[in-house]
Amino acid sequence: MYPYRIQYDVHCFARFRKNTFSRKKGLYMLQKPRGTTDILPGESEAWQETEAILRKTASLYGFSEVRIPTFEVSELYQRGVGETSDVVQKEMYTFVDNDRRSMTLRPEGTAGVVRCVIENGLTGGALPLALSYFVTCFRYEKPESGRFREFSQFGVELFGADAPVADANVILLGRDLFRNLGIRHISLEINSIGCKACRPLYREALHTYFSPYQNQLCDTCLGRLETNPLRIVDCKSELCSQFAKDAPKTIDHLCPDCHAHFEAVKACLDAAGVEYTVNPRIVRGLDYYQRTVFEFISTHEAFRSTLCGGGRYDGLVEELGGPAVSGIGFATGINRLILAMKAEGNLLPVSPSPLLYIAALGPDAQKYAFSLAAYLREKEIFAAFDQTGRSLKAQMKYADKKNAAFTLIVGDGELEKGEAFIKNMETGVQTPVNLKDFAAIVTAIGKEANR
Ligand code: HAM
Repeated sequence: MYPYRIQYDVHCFARFRKNTFSRKKGLYMLQKPRGTTDILPGESEAWQETEAILRKTASLYGFSEVRIPTFEVSELYQRGVGETSDVVQKEMYTFVDNDRRSMTLRPEGTAGVVRCVIENGLTGGALPLALSYFVTCFRYEKPESGRFREFSQFGVELFGADAPVADANVILLGRDLFRNLGIRHISLEINSIGCKACRPLYREALHTYFSPYQNQLCDTCLGRLETNPLRIVDCKSELCSQFAKDAPKTIDHLCPDCHAHFEAVKACLDAAGVEYTVNPRIVRGLDYYQRTVFEFISTHEAFRSTLCGGGRYDGLVEELGGPAVSGIGFATGINRLILAMKAEGNLLPVSPSPLLYIAALGPDAQKYAFSLAAYLREKEIFAAFDQTGRSLKAQMKYADKKNAAFTLIVGDGELEKGEAFIKNMETGVQTPVNLKDFAAIVTAIGKEANR
């Protein structure tokens, strides 16, 4: 018997069962779907710390947080992210809801934020408008190190700032995020992919260049040759990337305006001392980009991966039915940030240990421990106490595992006398305390010793 009744066609079901259940003790155990992660205590603290740093750094640049839905009508992503992108063509989690409307789990944040900006008339207020967000994204990709099917992004979007200095400022924010997270092995790669005016000529040049190789291009790139040859430039397949090495470069095909914009962005970055390389192969995988595009790449040998990607997307707000307001932004994958920080050997925060563990023997002692822990919490002290009724030996073993700084043993005898000892687990020193005097207990464990 399976724990759930699943209606599924038989082949799909066999595959689903293989990936989602494991046989243990004669029972099929449910497992998380491929490409998803459980973030457990011990690691969740590192996430919280990382999120706090991201939020604080972005707020220093004037970004305020928006929260957007996890699913949207599929058309938003088809029109926003673009029909020729891999994300729309093969990676979206799309479903038909009970009203027979096609809905999609958010594969990225920008399209949803743009929809939110238009729907709520946010561009009618003071411009530029600077928004940040934490989102969970879903992409049906092949899971591998740092690549998940469900992952978290932190992103920023700046609307109504057209000047090149805005591009540089957004890139500088990216640089600061990595600095503040202590990620030192990082390189910034930038490029300009032109605008609607110069892109057609560039596409033509790429089409001409790649056409002689069409029999050798991978299947995906063969399709891209007609729909979006720009994407052949960053194909990861060995043969395509060999051909792409000598492909025409976007920066050699920019119109005068795009050329001037890119030069000005570089000059601003130089002025701020931001190190970067111009990489003509950075073309980005989403269709909405124009002009400046960039990626921050982890160069640590233990974890090489793109940590952050972004660029300018003037035209997208209009494309989705809003006013002619420009946009630029980026998103960074938090799962990858954590992996990069681990590779760097950064000290990540761990679960807090209790300052005091109250071992309680018997129901009256448990009640006492319960009220003492409540009092200590009011004083912002984390105290743990026995909630199981297990033996003293087992309780002390638990206190040891949880790395409690002090312990207090309370049984019927101690309660009767109104006295017990607080033991410093590091030094072994025992201090007598009056059990009724909670304030004296705070003094005995020394609030400043809180870890
Ligand atoms: P993206 O390059 O598709 O851009 O994703 C941004 C970041 O999300 C990547 O650099 C990576 O760190 C993380 N990421 C992407 N896919 C995965 C995955 N399968 N598993 C784990 N992490 C992943 C965007 O999403 C754009 N919306 C960024 C943007 C904002 N452009 C302008 N504004």
